[in-house]
Amino acid sequence: MLSVDNIELFYGQVHAVKGVSLTVNAGEIVTLIGANGAGKSSTLKAISGVHPTKAGSITFRGEPLQSLPAHAIVGRGISHCPEGRRIFYELTVRENLLMGGFLLSGTTALERLETVMELFPRLRERLTQLGGTLSGGEQQMLAIGRALMSNPALLMLDEPSLGLAPLVVEKIFQRVVELNQGGLTVLLVEQNAHIALGISHRAYVLETGRVILSGQSADLALDERVQKAYLGG
Ligand SMILES: Nc1ncnc2c1ncn2[C@@H]1O[C@H](COP(=O)(O)OP(=O)(O)OP(=O)(O)O)[C@@H](O)[C@H]1O
Ligand SMILES: [Mg+2]
Repeated sequence: MLSVDNIELFYGQVHAVKGVSLTVNAGEIVTLIGANGAGKSSTLKAISGVHPTKAGSITFRGEPLQSLPAHAIVGRGISHCPEGRRIFYELTVRENLLMGGFLLSGTTALERLETVMELFPRLRERLTQLGGTLSGGEQQMLAIGRALMSNPALLMLDEPSLGLAPLVVEKIFQRVVELNQGGLTVLLVEQNAHIALGISHRAYVLETGRVILSGQSADLALDERVQKAYLGG
């Protein structure tokens, strides 16, 4: 479904992604793990068109993405829930959600809003509340809900567990698994390797801009190098 082939990404002189290749097949949850600064978020930014690549290719459903602006990539069926959530504090929950449906017509957006509120009943209860007044877990639900407004085929989630209590993290990942069982393909970036390998089918380990290991998540969880570096083993 998604094929990333040998991409290079720079921030000025900083060479953040050095020839990363990966694939995501329809129906999978694929996770990227790696230390701070490994290039995980940058890889997602390259795919969603938030930051340009200098070399390599990215195709989705057989079509190249790199020449497209970010909103057109959303239109192709890829949604990016960024690191740090990036919800609008001064807008209500409803307004935040509708922002995620900006490409949809009015009635379709409202139908989609209803679907997202069914997925996250807590958001329905908080609909008129300002984004900035939500708890951390609710803000993460809002960020995911907003990303789902465009009805993506591929959802990219960047560090959904960051700063949340274990019980809240468990709830959010449970919802991600349910969404995947409903047919959504997921590319997940996660510092919590234990959870990420637990819920994903396959994984890639990034180190300083390169893929150093990849395979079935269950196998990687048993890999000595992964255990030492990422599972505290
Ligand atoms: N806007 C930017 N300007 C300059 N350098 C950047 C910028 N964003 C990221 N970098 C650098 O690019 C490299 C990769 O960053 P990236 O955010 O992709 O890492 P990451 O794997 O997501 O890390 P983390 O786990 O901390 O989120 C890092 O060395 C980082 O300092
Ligand atoms: Mg990151």
